[in-house]
Amino acid sequence: MSTGRRVIGASEVSDARARQRNVIEVLPGDIVTAEARDQAERLGIKLVDGPLERPEPVRTDGATAARRGLWRRSPRWVAPSNRISHSPRRFTKIAFIGAGGVGMNAAHLCANAEMAHEIVLIDIAPGVAAANALDLNHASGVSRARTRASGGQSLALVEGADVVLVTAGRARQPGMTRADLIDVNRRVIHAAGAAIATHAPNAIVVVVTNPLDEMTVEMLRATGFPRNQVLGMAGTLDSSRFRNALAMAAKVDTRDVEAITLGSHGDEMAPIVSASRIKGRPLDVFLSAEQIADCVKDAITGGGQVVALKKTGSAVIAPAHASVEVMDHLRGARAGTVPVSVMLEGEYGIDGVVLGVPCHLGETGLIKVQELALPDDELAQLRTAADAIRARLAE
Ligand code: LAC
Repeated sequence: MSTGRRVIGASEVSDARARQRNVIEVLPGDIVTAEARDQAERLGIKLVDGPLERPEPVRTDGATAARRGLWRRSPRWVAPSNRISHSPRRFTKIAFIGAGGVGMNAAHLCANAEMAHEIVLIDIAPGVAAANALDLNHASGVSRARTRASGGQSLALVEGADVVLVTAGRARQPGMTRADLIDVNRRVIHAAGAAIATHAPNAIVVVVTNPLDEMTVEMLRATGFPRNQVLGMAGTLDSSRFRNALAMAAKVDTRDVEAITLGSHGDEMAPIVSASRIKGRPLDVFLSAEQIADCVKDAITGGGQVVALKKTGSAVIAPAHASVEVMDHLRGARAGTVPVSVMLEGEYGIDGVVLGVPCHLGETGLIKVQELALPDDELAQLRTAADAIRARLAE
């Protein structure tokens, strides 16, 4: 049953652009999300209060009118000459510190998408990085990807990288929390950070090593880089898990789900129910409160579920895709905001701690933190997460 109120989200705005429209009519009662306003500004689309006056329809015979109407109004119709005014940047070099499961899967995705001219894999385990690089190059005879890979043990191989993806460090074992890894992985991050600062001082660093938010703080300290250059990858992964849970619960495609997860990459994760939509409608149109709570729990425990099943380490495939999503935003292959862990400087009323928030990214890393208008309970969740991270770092 339709109430007549529409939620206009970022996907509706992108859709309008795909149809070569410059204006979206906002009718009384319509809800326009912050993401939509932002996307509209980026794409140069005007949100205009309606109802707008329309010209009298041209009178013609019924069959012609029906054909014209169907051609113009079919929701599936997309203008054939949909040219994108820019093409995504191809990096000169992406370095991967850590060539294990996540690093290798991410490198594979980057090579296949030709995201860089050159990929270098670095791993402390003798032979692993070189072997994986050789393996990737061997695949190019089939994939025909032009990206060239090389690998070795020396951190100095980050030389001149535009982007460094840091996955090195110990992964969780069953029964461990991500926070249990703080001490051992802090040393890894400081070694990596020192090498990046020396050999790739302009690189954008994407941290994946756990505990994610704490290790992103350590990377900022180790490199001495400004906050725009050091990003933590967690929100894209947690949001993907949340979207998957919602799609499964509502029995729809994941492409019908818009959802975002902020906060920490741990127990204080904050899946943002207020900003999530299924087929453009609020979650409670499709799911009971209990189902929504289960999906939230699924997002928070998703990584742990993989660890418990695997027994020898943590997830690799979803984290790799989520890392590549961050890189796609850096190179301009995706529009809009993306949840990333960054050092906050007063945004959301939080200062001096790294936390997952929606960000605009570009060639220089963080461009701007997007402040969503969150309800009090979700804002409180973000502040609780910030306090918990601060406390763990102080221990
Ligand atoms: C996970 C690890 C990568 O969430 O933190 O799977």
